[in-house]
Amino acid sequence: MRSPTALRLFSWISLLLTTAFAASNVVSFDDCPSCDTLKPAIQNVDDCPSCLALLSAFQSIALTGDDPFITTLTSLCIGLGTADPDVCTGLVAREGPILAHDLRSISITPTSSSSSTAQKLCDALMGMCVTHPVTPFTVPFPKPAPAHPKVFKSRGGKPIRVAHLSDVHIDRMYTVGAEANCTKSICCRDFDDSPSTPPTVPALPNGNSHCDSPISLADSMLEEIERLNPRFSIFTGDVVEGATWLVDQAEVTTDLQAFDAQMAAKLSAPIFPSLGNDSASVNAFARTSSHAMNDSQFVFDTQSAGWEQWIKPAAAFEVKHHSGSYSAQVPGLGLRIVAVNTQYWYKQNFWLYDSDVVQPDPNGVLAFLVDALQAAEDAGDRAWIIGHIPLGKEDTMIDQVFPTWNLYYSARATYGPLVGLPPNEPLSPAFWHNLTEVFVANETAFQMFNTFISRGGAVTPCTGGDAGDCKNTTICDMRAFRSENNCVSIRLNFAVLTVWKEPF
Ligand SMILES: *[C@@H]1O[C@H](CO)[C@@H](O)[C@H](O)[C@H]1NC(C)=O
Ligand SMILES: *[C@@H]1O[C@H](CO)[C@@H](O)[C@H](O)[C@H]1NC(C)=O
Ligand SMILES: *[C@@H]1O[C@H](CO)[C@@H](O)[C@H](O)[C@H]1NC(C)=O
Ligand SMILES: *[C@@H]1O[C@H](CO)[C@@H](O)[C@H](O)[C@H]1NC(C)=O
Ligand SMILES: *[C@@H]1O[C@H](CO)[C@@H](O)[C@H](O)[C@H]1NC(C)=O
Ligand SMILES: *[C@@H]1O[C@H](CO)[C@@H](O)[C@H](O)[C@H]1NC(C)=O
Repeated sequence: MRSPTALRLFSWISLLLTTAFAASNVVSFDDCPSCDTLKPAIQNVDDCPSCLALLSAFQSIALTGDDPFITTLTSLCIGLGTADPDVCTGLVAREGPILAHDLRSISITPTSSSSSTAQKLCDALMGMCVTHPVTPFTVPFPKPAPAHPKVFKSRGGKPIRVAHLSDVHIDRMYTVGAEANCTKSICCRDFDDSPSTPPTVPALPNGNSHCDSPISLADSMLEEIERLNPRFSIFTGDVVEGATWLVDQAEVTTDLQAFDAQMAAKLSAPIFPSLGNDSASVNAFARTSSHAMNDSQFVFDTQSAGWEQWIKPAAAFEVKHHSGSYSAQVPGLGLRIVAVNTQYWYKQNFWLYDSDVVQPDPNGVLAFLVDALQAAEDAGDRAWIIGHIPLGKEDTMIDQVFPTWNLYYSARATYGPLVGLPPNEPLSPAFWHNLTEVFVANETAFQMFNTFISRGGAVTPCTGGDAGDCKNTTICDMRAFRSENNCVSIRLNFAVLTVWKEPF
């Protein structure tokens, strides 16, 4: 049915529906008449038509209003034991109205006459209905490609050092001594329903792998980066902690401001950040075609103000007026950072499913990118495109009892010889591609990469020929610049942007 690789990409709601496969025979729902009505539809989901049939059943409930929809989803979530009751209630309160609005806005029939949006929603929620071909879409460059493109050649100068930070997920309510062994997605906090008994595993000052980062760990990381004296830094988003059932606009605003202030206080070189999935409801960025188009404007306004000190006023203006994207020059390097808000391509941004009209370039993000790249070419500058959504696996935060920061590995020193990279050649896209060819042929090298990806912590076994063919999928993900080119069995018709990284 679905591969483990595909399941990893799903959100809490697919977890809910997945739990339902196993449990719906034994659970009875006291206060939820529609839950029993939904049972057969839930149990029967195993292909695209049955997934659309389930969406259609949910659509009938959504058509009676947000409240019944939220009640039903919450009852299912609690009744099936998908998450703690407070988590179910909080998450459904946040994402439920968006999903209900989606279901009311699109045409769903259990056949191929369903809109492609309905099929994409099935894909996002259940990993079904993904066989339809990609519709070609072109964003033309203002000018034709140059006949003789500028060739960037090293003049033998000393390489610059750049720090890449990402996914800090700082829990500003992290509480030393709180329970680190809990039933929620993050622990180390006094939640309303935390037991009054002494913790089985008390949270230590510098973090725990079941928790998001304490402020002190982020400070320690920033101090180490400062010590390494980078020429500049890039930060690719995700500031707010994973207590997604509690987070709201007020908290997101103060968390973003607080981390901007933390970076400004600790780092003396400029920082070029991009947005992550932080919004009033996690991942929820509405398109300009939606009635909720301004719901995330507070994120753009907050970061426009917070980032202006590094990216300068013109780019800060773009952040505000281009849905969080901008292009900025790195002083003295002939280099531009083009930061794109990749949330408009993120499957779990449920605002992407609120219309049957296909929008290949929501909010004109690709058009903005093309203009920024044209401007870079006209100026003879290099450009790095940065964004939050990675193509491979999730990042894992380094949590240690004593945060001493050591060099874990150097990509140039470790991988350069495998590809035959000359000392002065950059770690270019061609280099990384060639490295994937080494990974195909050299199992030792691939396994080393697979260990590095989780910093040697919780290493997920990844071999060829296993369920979902993890090695093959991983290599495809690295090569794919577009979602339709990856090998995961669930796919999306939008481009996914990758991050150009140079680990130091
Ligand atoms: C974590 O909590 C569970 C449930 O309370 C308990 O069974 C388990 O022993 C605890 N783990 C540790 C490492 O204390
Ligand atoms: C969004 O905000 C702009 C500027 O404040 C306003 O002109 C527009 O009407 C708002 N759109 C919606 C749908 O609320
Ligand atoms: C935020 O984005 C990251 C990267 O895509 C993802 O791993 C993480 O699960 C997201 N968080 C939530 C709560 O969806
Ligand atoms: C990548 O491999 C190709 C084909 O072998 C080779 O021509 C090219 O120079 C390599 N590039 C890098 C950066 O390693
Ligand atoms: C394969 O990778 C390992 C680990 O990097 C390396 O030591 C070895 O020389 C490589 N083998 C070949 C044939 O390149
Ligand atoms: C992955 O598997 C497909 C289908 O078997 C094959 O065509 C492709 O070459 C494989 N890719 C890699 C990177 O091994």
